[in-house]
Amino acid sequence: MRSSRVLESPTTFVVEDYTPGLTISFRDPTANSDLARAREAVDLEPWRSLPFEEQIERADLLCRQLSVSERAGDFGESLKRFGESEDVRVGLAAAATAFGLRPEADTVDTIAALLEQTGVFQRASHFSVRLYCHDPQAPTALEEDATHFGFILDGDPGLRLELPDGRHYPLYPHSYFCVPGAGRITGAGRVELLTSFGTRGLLSLGGPIEPWGRLKYIDGCTDTMLVPPARLGAPCFNALYFPAETRQTQHTHPSLRAGIVVSGEGVCKTPNGDHALVPGRIFFLPPETWHAFHTGDDGGQRSALTVIAFHPDSDFGPTDDDHPMLNRTYFQFLHRLRSSLRTRASEPASSANS
Ligand SMILES: [Fe+2]
Repeated sequence: MRSSRVLESPTTFVVEDYTPGLTISFRDPTANSDLARAREAVDLEPWRSLPFEEQIERADLLCRQLSVSERAGDFGESLKRFGESEDVRVGLAAAATAFGLRPEADTVDTIAALLEQTGVFQRASHFSVRLYCHDPQAPTALEEDATHFGFILDGDPGLRLELPDGRHYPLYPHSYFCVPGAGRITGAGRVELLTSFGTRGLLSLGGPIEPWGRLKYIDGCTDTMLVPPARLGAPCFNALYFPAETRQTQHTHPSLRAGIVVSGEGVCKTPNGDHALVPGRIFFLPPETWHAFHTGDDGGQRSALTVIAFHPDSDFGPTDDDHPMLNRTYFQFLHRLRSSLRTRASEPASSANS
């Protein structure tokens, strides 16, 4: 693998034109250490002498300082919505009960426990990842101890994936792959590779990506899981679609996001400035950094902006105790009960595709 330029563990949003050999290495777990230090320095004891409303205000300010929320008043508003009441005390008690805490406990203790249990004080989990832009001048070697996710923006007919056992697969524009372990990419074309070290995905190739997503996302956007997690927690590879005139709500993610712009145009707004998104531009978003994607006119396409997004982890996926093979195996009435409850719980989401 050639490296013409290497960016080491960036802490702010990176948008770059696809450049053969460009590498973004995110293998340093000390990234975002300022935030980690701020989290460790929190002391809620002085809050105990304050009136209830002021304790809630302090929690709200703390959430903004720790980059948990961006909008003033979010903490109290979130509790009210959770408790389905205009009274923040009701929301706090409901949240405490939901987390198995004593709802009658001291307010500061309850706030501290909620912040603790929702991971506010935790440092983001580190996932060792590398972004690399295939260089047609030399084969790209894929290491054995990792899973390699790839998206082909464009390429010559000779562009292909080669595996150690001699099999090889042609790589077509707008297709994607997931390769566990060793292999290599040869030929001319723009292939963005996201390598997840220490994981073992399932070999898969697919595409071309569809013109619109299968699942609803925020602000009218949609997405499709191109490579779903083989197990709960595993990495996943997604296509993300933005309709015209999108003004996405500012948000963060608990782990890094990285990908490439496939088609359309847009702007990524961050606290450090705006970044133009045009086809072929790669992006890398460190954990817990605020951002929002905006689009303009759709140019006649259903999706005004289409991007590929890699996630190094997931809060979704099958487990040994919860997967379709097992869930649909009945030998007691109990299994029918559980299966029916699961199906009922998933019904509102089943109409997302259109
Ligand atoms: Fe995002």
